[in-house]
Amino acid sequence: MAIVGLSFGAEFIPIYQEYPFTRLAAICQRTREKLDAVGDTWGVAARYTDYAECLDDPTVEIVHINTPPPLHADMCVAGLEAGKHVASTIPMALTVKDCKRIVDAQKKSGRQYMMMETTVYSREFLFVRKMYRDGELGRLQFFRSSHQQEMAGWPEYWEGFPPMWNATHAIAPTLALGGNQAASVSCFGSGTIDRRMHGRYGSPFAIETVHIRFKNSDLAAEVTRSLFDTARQYRESFDVYGSKKSFEWTAIEGEDPILHTGEIPARVKVPDFAHLLPQPIQKFTRAGVYDSRDKKHLSFTQGGGHGGSHPHLVHEFVSALREKREPYPNARQAANITCSGILAHESALKGGAPLRLPAWTFVD
Ligand SMILES: NC(=O)c1ccc[n+]([C@@H]2O[C@H](COP(=O)([O-])OP(=O)(O)OC[C@H]3O[C@@H](n4cnc5c(N)ncnc54)[C@H](O)[C@@H]3O)[C@@H](O)[C@H]2O)c1
Repeated sequence: MAIVGLSFGAEFIPIYQEYPFTRLAAICQRTREKLDAVGDTWGVAARYTDYAECLDDPTVEIVHINTPPPLHADMCVAGLEAGKHVASTIPMALTVKDCKRIVDAQKKSGRQYMMMETTVYSREFLFVRKMYRDGELGRLQFFRSSHQQEMAGWPEYWEGFPPMWNATHAIAPTLALGGNQAASVSCFGSGTIDRRMHGRYGSPFAIETVHIRFKNSDLAAEVTRSLFDTARQYRESFDVYGSKKSFEWTAIEGEDPILHTGEIPARVKVPDFAHLLPQPIQKFTRAGVYDSRDKKHLSFTQGGGHGGSHPHLVHEFVSALREKREPYPNARQAANITCSGILAHESALKGGAPLRLPAWTFVD
């Protein structure tokens, strides 16, 4: 397999190298200098600065794409059309049309696509999912989630990004827990970011907050997203309200989540779910894993920071290929999640008008 995009993407290198069922055959990224630095550190021989050449490599059967969001659609489609299985970081794409192109290309190719959504493989999500499956939460009643961050100083393509175009971390868990799909969205934009950032994507909003109606369900979710000019510590939060117990994840980073049983709140320690993984990659659920080849301590703070999700993502994707089943989220599910955000932004521009998800995003 090959990893394409080596900033965030580099965190997956040792996982694929140590996973028992993959061989990291190649890496690909734009600049030769960084490509060689990463290749030398991790001992990867085949190196490409050109994605097309990477796709021509017959030893590459799978590509894992971690490039900037505007490139995801073309790269995923090209990968599928070249006969590769494709894993892609979030968001799936930036337009409904591009999500459909990936869904169509996946179907036509007979290859697999998975969106590598970290929140639905985080230890907090796996914890609340276990509680739900064990019946501890009772009947699901409502979800509230948020993803708040300050992206000033990040690569320039983020400047002025509409908040809901990059809301999969907050939307996905609301749908994933009960196996639901979004049917319609209604979103408000609120506040204003620095005027200099309005031009690129035509979005003025500091915060967008969407209500999602679920398909064939009495449930709804509320999701909030901010990217610029809002004073709030980073958080990915996910609250689940059940008839017996409710779970509230993250008020302040590093604090334990809260479990409510009626009037009684209690902090809970979320266990590590590494035992669900093959032994060689269990260590990657922890922050700061040190690899002896990397003298500069190229640590995995993000890996731990994304709730230990990275090895679970690899395991889900490769297991799906080995078991000849669809991964979660597959192309349609990824489109349902991503298009909820894209349409939410469109709804906000229309003053909150309800918009329906296209039928091709539904899994029957
Ligand atoms: N929790 C998460 O799921 C999570 C966390 C961080 C980043 N991401 C996603 O990862 C993606 C990349 O983020 P980042 O912070 O690493 O971005 P970045 O801009 O720092 O790095 C982008 C990488 O892609 C490579 N690249 C760009 N254009 C290319 C091309 N045409 N061909 C080959 N390689 C190319 C660059 O060389 C670089 O290695 C984004 O889509 C972001 O949303 C997801």
